[in-house]
Amino acid sequence: MSGEAGEGRRLRSGLPAGSDGGPPDTAPLIEVSDLTKVYGEGSSAVRALAGVSLAVREGEFVAIMGPSGSGKSTFMHLIGCLDRPTSGRYRLGGESVSELSPDALAALRNRRIGFVFQSFNLLPRASALENVELPMLYCGVGREERERRARVLLEQVGLGGRLSHHPSELSGGQQQRVAIARSLANGAPLIMADEPTGNLDSASSAEIMSLFQNLNREQGITVLVVTHAIDIAAWSDRVVTFHDGLIVDDRSAAEVIPAAIRDAALRAGEKARQ
Ligand SMILES: Nc1ncnc2c1ncn2[C@@H]1O[C@H](COP(=O)(O)OP(=O)(O)OP(=O)(O)O)[C@@H](O)[C@H]1O
Ligand SMILES: [Mg+2]
Repeated sequence: MSGEAGEGRRLRSGLPAGSDGGPPDTAPLIEVSDLTKVYGEGSSAVRALAGVSLAVREGEFVAIMGPSGSGKSTFMHLIGCLDRPTSGRYRLGGESVSELSPDALAALRNRRIGFVFQSFNLLPRASALENVELPMLYCGVGREERERRARVLLEQVGLGGRLSHHPSELSGGQQQRVAIARSLANGAPLIMADEPTGNLDSASSAEIMSLFQNLNREQGITVLVVTHAIDIAAWSDRVVTFHDGLIVDDRSAAEVIPAAIRDAALRAGEKARQ
């Protein structure tokens, strides 16, 4: 593995920084310390995050697990710059996010983060191509270049033959692939997905996870996936577990996930690549 360590953004050890005993291969992309989030005030206040510290290096593939209400989505919203913490520090790509103005925060989000949601969140009246073009439109990319890049991205996710289809004319798995192509539109180095396979059957789920795995392995894109399902977490390299607003476990997937479940994901990945 040491031969690959010099490839900059590529990271294959899959272990949390320092836990493999070797030097960190890549720079931290996400660094949070003592992050808290309280929703509401007074007697109705809910402490969704109670002091979370975590570092994720460029090129890692991390699964976020934990029971319902443990703070996973809250954490993803903060990391995705969709919301602000009550307290704590957050650096994304070395930039201190807490000090940014709302405009600068939006710009950072557009440039550095791609989002994938459980319910796909595609525009129903727009074609697959137009859905993927949208983030580029917001960033001021010209029409021809937008269309060219959207075609390439849709081909990359295996939908080159569905460019003009509308979401209602696509299966759930295909809609999620359009959403993944859209998340890549601005060349973000980080993809965050909250329960991306929650609405999909097991075959489509494996296709989606295999796509994330390819993006991670071949393009060095950092992937954070929230899931309740251990067979989905099996695609990741590192599993971070939340409970009551705290991280209670953070280990390599090989330590947390039974070998048989990881093998099944491995086989599904090989099959999907054929
Ligand atoms: N906008 C909000 N206003 C008030 N409370 C909230 C809000 N969003 C989340 N919470 C509360 O914060 C806690 C953490 O919620 P969060 O959505 O982060 O959990 P989760 O781990 O994503 O759960 P699930 O697995 O069910 O999606 C919960 O107690 C929830 O009720
Ligand atoms: Mg959630």
